Amino acid sequence: MSRDLSALRESYEQAGLRRADLAADPVAQFERWWDQWAATAPYDPAACVLATASTDGQPSARFVLCREFGPAGFVVYTNQESRKGADLAANPKAALTFGWLELSRQVRVEGPVTVVDDATADAYWSSRPRGSRIGAWASHQSTPVADRAELDRRQAEAEARFGVTDDGDPVERPPYWGGYRIGIERMEFWQGQPNRLHDRFEYRPAPDGAWTITRLAP
Ligand SMILES: Cc1cc2nc3c(=O)[nH]c(=O)nc-3n(C[C@H](O)[C@H](O)[C@H](O)COP(=O)(O)O)c2cc1C
Repeated sequence: MSRDLSALRESYEQAGLRRADLAADPVAQFERWWDQWAATAPYDPAACVLATASTDGQPSARFVLCREFGPAGFVVYTNQESRKGADLAANPKAALTFGWLELSRQVRVEGPVTVVDDATADAYWSSRPRGSRIGAWASHQSTPVADRAELDRRQAEAEARFGVTDDGDPVERPPYWGGYRIGIERMEFWQGQPNRLHDRFEYRPAPDGAWTITRLAP
């Protein structure tokens, strides 16, 4: 039986987004909004949805944590032998969407994807808690697992190999684990407004190194 959710209806009453408010550069604009979002949502503020597509055109989307942003793009880390990794190896383009609902905001990023260099990935890897690093060895992300016991067994094997407590022995970065950088070919800032007349601004790179900003119909 289907469930009717049509009566759930928010009215978006936050201040509007005007062209005069916008930074000339989308990363600067993102930074402003990021600071406001991080102050609003202390729980996993860096969560965002990464969409990829296979070569036969099947899209798939999943939450990830954005670990860095800047003029060179937005960085996420994952198992590169996962479904998303297979998609990106064959079709290195992605979309990343931040849903900042408590502020009635959405930010969309689209662009070409490159693999983060080893030194950067190593630096992030070594900042992760030891348990997460061991877990990355135990999980062949996106492949079938017979049952929970198999997962626990793999975790125990990885713990035996590396040691649970940090005795100075490094847990090396698995060869299949690393980062993807989503370059900025398009960014969009969406501010919910009353009567569904939302504010949308799209940034695209202009040939002279600047950005063109276009208001889009909601
Ligand atoms: C809030 C949240 C954050 C997540 N962050 C990551 C992440 O940074 N990297 C990652 O590989 N998976 C992350 N996941 C798990 C992914 O959503 C997904 O299950 C996993 O990467 C496998 O996706 P795939 O089979 O499409 O490759 C996160 C899930 C949630 C709900």
